Amino acid sequence: MSNLTSITNEKISVPAIRARKVRGGAVPIVCLTAYSKPMAQLLDPHVDVILVGDSVGMVVYGFETTLPVTLEMMIDHGAAVVRGARRVLVVVDMPFASYQLSPAQAYQNAARVMAETGCAAVKIEGGIEMADTVAFLTRRGIPVMAHIGLMPQSVSAAGGYRAHGRDEAEAHYLVQSARKLQDAGAFAIVIEGTVEPLAARITNELEIPTIGIGASPACDGQVLVTDDMLGVFQDFKPKFVRQFAQIGEQITTAVQEYTAAVRGHEFPAPEHCFGVKPLVPVTINMQDNATSAKPTPQKKRSGR
Ligand code: KIV
Repeated sequence: MSNLTSITNEKISVPAIRARKVRGGAVPIVCLTAYSKPMAQLLDPHVDVILVGDSVGMVVYGFETTLPVTLEMMIDHGAAVVRGARRVLVVVDMPFASYQLSPAQAYQNAARVMAETGCAAVKIEGGIEMADTVAFLTRRGIPVMAHIGLMPQSVSAAGGYRAHGRDEAEAHYLVQSARKLQDAGAFAIVIEGTVEPLAARITNELEIPTIGIGASPACDGQVLVTDDMLGVFQDFKPKFVRQFAQIGEQITTAVQEYTAAVRGHEFPAPEHCFGVKPLVPVTINMQDNATSAKPTPQKKRSGR
């Protein structure tokens, strides 16, 4: 494997990610979402950052938006992911209404997320208006990944899912936001759903890495929702997603085959059952016309 696919076996730290500027010679940061221990175990040897995104609300729970996601849900999924992570940096999203009220509210809830999940950092959505909160958290030892551009928790106020930074005022707001969040101590910034030249310009201006989603190849890293890039949802393929697999199709095929096997009395077969006598192959000795039987040894298997 080239060093482009596997960076290091050592545990990845917040300062290590903070230092990953592509213009400084680093390879891009690879980030994917996970919400469970088995998925974290699958991603851990390959990616740099696992984001326990509040997208869990839409992907796993079927909510229309991320707004109904609670702190308890994020803590439960965050803890599950941390149990499956050995080397990656795990970042947990702060859900809607858990940090916007005041820096003190943000600290109280972020501290719970850190203590109860064992994650390395939290992510919060918001531009310049969240800079004081980011400073409050980072000065008290809570590493923060910021998130600007399209912010799913504010999608209603923003007039829906659309690319940000098209007009002068929005571009100015995003550039100012990125600068202030960096000054406030954020160690990286997710730029979501933002016009490409602006995402590239912000990346170029900042000392901390940007992680793009629907942004720019010039960003210092990329993030996707794992279920999107695996093609779990056959009817959902936004412009910024490339499907690296069609897992949805594979699941459909497997379920059809299982259904047919059960209905056709092919599954379970004797080897899937407990207490079924092993098959006894009969060998015929041609010389003395005697027959001998030797039991086939049973495979050892776990109870799972
Ligand atoms: O919730 C999430 O998964 C995210 C990423 C898409 C950036 O915020």
